[in-house]
Amino acid sequence: MNNGSRETLADVRLPRIVVPPHPYRPELPAAEKAALKERIATMLRQQNAVLVAHYYTDGDLQDLAEATGGCVADSLEMARFAAAHPAQTLVVAGVRFMGETSKILNPEKRVLMPAVEATCSLDEGCPIELFNGFCDLHPDHTVVVYANTSAEVKARSHWVVTSGIALAVIRHLAEKGEKILWGPDQHLGRYVQRLTGVEMILWPASCVVHEEFKAEGLMRMRARHPQAAVLVHPESPAEVVAQADVVGSTTALIQAVRDLPNQEFIVATDAGIFNKMRQLAPAKVLLGAPIAGEGATCESCARCPWMEMNTLEQLARVLATGEGEIQVAPELAARARIPIQRMLDFAATVKK
Ligand code: 13P
Ligand code: SF4
Repeated sequence: MNNGSRETLADVRLPRIVVPPHPYRPELPAAEKAALKERIATMLRQQNAVLVAHYYTDGDLQDLAEATGGCVADSLEMARFAAAHPAQTLVVAGVRFMGETSKILNPEKRVLMPAVEATCSLDEGCPIELFNGFCDLHPDHTVVVYANTSAEVKARSHWVVTSGIALAVIRHLAEKGEKILWGPDQHLGRYVQRLTGVEMILWPASCVVHEEFKAEGLMRMRARHPQAAVLVHPESPAEVVAQADVVGSTTALIQAVRDLPNQEFIVATDAGIFNKMRQLAPAKVLLGAPIAGEGATCESCARCPWMEMNTLEQLARVLATGEGEIQVAPELAARARIPIQRMLDFAATVKK
């Protein structure tokens, strides 16, 4: 490991990200919720459809995905599952780039999303016009983008990565002597750079949810819970990542709760992940990492406002009406598929 790599942050002016407010949603009465889930399960069966949900979505959606033969996963596994599953309709509960990735990999299938309007601050923070111009300035660099990007940005790239495979891909490219332009998440980029020692030019976007975790608050919390293991998603700021016992994709953090001997965990990622963690380790104590304190904003609640747009009601509505279908122009999809497929092929060669 080489920690001495220089940092080059791209000098670009990013668009202002408009973050939607968190909705107030009273809990459905139990009988009503059960009936709604039953109706959705029936529609999934009738339409030869499978539900693929991210760990950050509502717990009821996650449970329903598993109960109906679908999956709950991180973004790498969602892409893999969608590529391999025979269902004619893929219903993707997550944010837009996840639905787009499924459509790009399965152009012949119908891809529905309960919330097509659900975007991501990393995707919004990397508009294709700006990114194109920046890549043009560095024609000798291999362009590696995080999956949290538009189809257009993927189409401009050589490689797509998720947090689950980023380190392995960058090490592989560095061994071949390639120079790397990384986008759009600066924090994940910085983390990868620090661990691999590979110098990269970093696009300066960030995740509005993870950026809210507070390093000082975390230090105080660790002092109050000295036995707790600290689990951090690498979209968090470097000072938070530096305090982690485990840094990794959503899957890696869930596995840490299941496998580590600790009874207490401090978790710095979206709170939707607690659903799966509780399922796998019901006796363990899970504490959300601090988000309040100096610099806190109304976005500080460790809930992605776009993931929250996915609800049982919305899911039932898109299955009933066929609304919420994702379209990606075939020519664009063909170009975007190349770096995604490159990631999937590479992932198949990497030991888990
Ligand atoms: P994972 O690939 O780790 O699931 O992360 C996706 C994401 O959007 C995290 O904010
Ligand atoms: Fe994007 Fe952050 Fe939401 Fe993940 S948590 S989808 S990176 S805004």
